Amino acid sequence: METVLLSDSSADITKAAELIKNGHIVGIPTETVYGLGADATDENAVRGIFAAKGRPADNPLIVHLADFSDAVNYTAEIPELAYRLAERFCPGPLTIVLPKNDRIPMVTSGGLDTVGIRVPSHPVMHRLIAESGKPIAAPSANISGYPSPTSAEHVMRDMNGRIAAVVDGGESKFGVESTVISIENEDTVRILRPGCVTDEMLSEICGSVIIDHAILNELEAGEKAASPGMKYKHYSPKANIIMVEGSADAFTKYVSEHDGESSYSLIFDGDEKNFPYRYMTYGKDSLQQAHMLFAKLRELDDIGAEKVYVRAPSKDGVGLAVYNRLIRAAGFEVIRV
Ligand code: TXA
Ligand code: MG
Repeated sequence: METVLLSDSSADITKAAELIKNGHIVGIPTETVYGLGADATDENAVRGIFAAKGRPADNPLIVHLADFSDAVNYTAEIPELAYRLAERFCPGPLTIVLPKNDRIPMVTSGGLDTVGIRVPSHPVMHRLIAESGKPIAAPSANISGYPSPTSAEHVMRDMNGRIAAVVDGGESKFGVESTVISIENEDTVRILRPGCVTDEMLSEICGSVIIDHAILNELEAGEKAASPGMKYKHYSPKANIIMVEGSADAFTKYVSEHDGESSYSLIFDGDEKNFPYRYMTYGKDSLQQAHMLFAKLRELDDIGAEKVYVRAPSKDGVGLAVYNRLIRAAGFEVIRV
């Protein structure tokens, strides 16, 4: 199959919407990362998404809608708290897990009786949903396990020959995937995956926000995952990622005492002044680090880096999302210096 690269012109968006309407898979831009979109109600199309990514069948897909009010068509029940959250955060980088109804096939929900609903803010996504008239199921558009794509070029690299088209909607604004939450009770949510809607932001709407244990810790043997995605290795480039947590000086000392000469390091902007080894930087604050992390991990693979020391980011605010992706790429090991 030849994968066509489309622009974000009206004519091209119409072409992409037609493809989705007709059961094809299209690489689509969102404000978080690029997705692999198809009609969420078409079992064959959804099977094609799993096949294109090499994704385990029990890992559910998020369903993207133009407006949260459409969620009544695909869910069995919407708690009042979900409406309050949607009012504040939709459209935007938040996915709310709700009980699904029969219009969402089991293939889409990975066999669960819930569905993650997200209202993206990217204008191209809005037009694709409106013009196709379909709810769009979309996981991140990477090969399963690899860092998520934040540009159309990344999607082309992973998916060329596997899907019908990719729409180039520019670089993803946030760079990490949406915050995924479930509703625990009338005033409590649980964060299943951290993102750019932070626990502090959620606390403005809910009485209590639980950060699931598996966000920073490996699941124990036999422990049940609150979200299937927690079970799988994620965000891993080919390079061996080693997370080192500490000040810039302590980081440099650690690398110099290990294989500084033969490795690469991924450090903060500003750390490079006294850093004598090969490096890339990934921004100076959490928002920048979220925006750049996946692109940098891909770039390190492109230059053939085999071993990469990464200076661990802050865990505060959006930093928790960056830390969560990195700790998974590093196999949950953190060296504290
Ligand atoms: O920002 C995003 O969320 C991007 C863009 C394309 O929208 N999508 C994305 O999808 O990251 P994906 O499939 O790569 O990650 C979705 C995560 C997975 O870890 C999955 O296990 C979890 O959300 N998830 C989806 N539906 C769920 C459900 N019903 N219950 C629990 N976890 C769910
Ligand atoms: Mg993903």
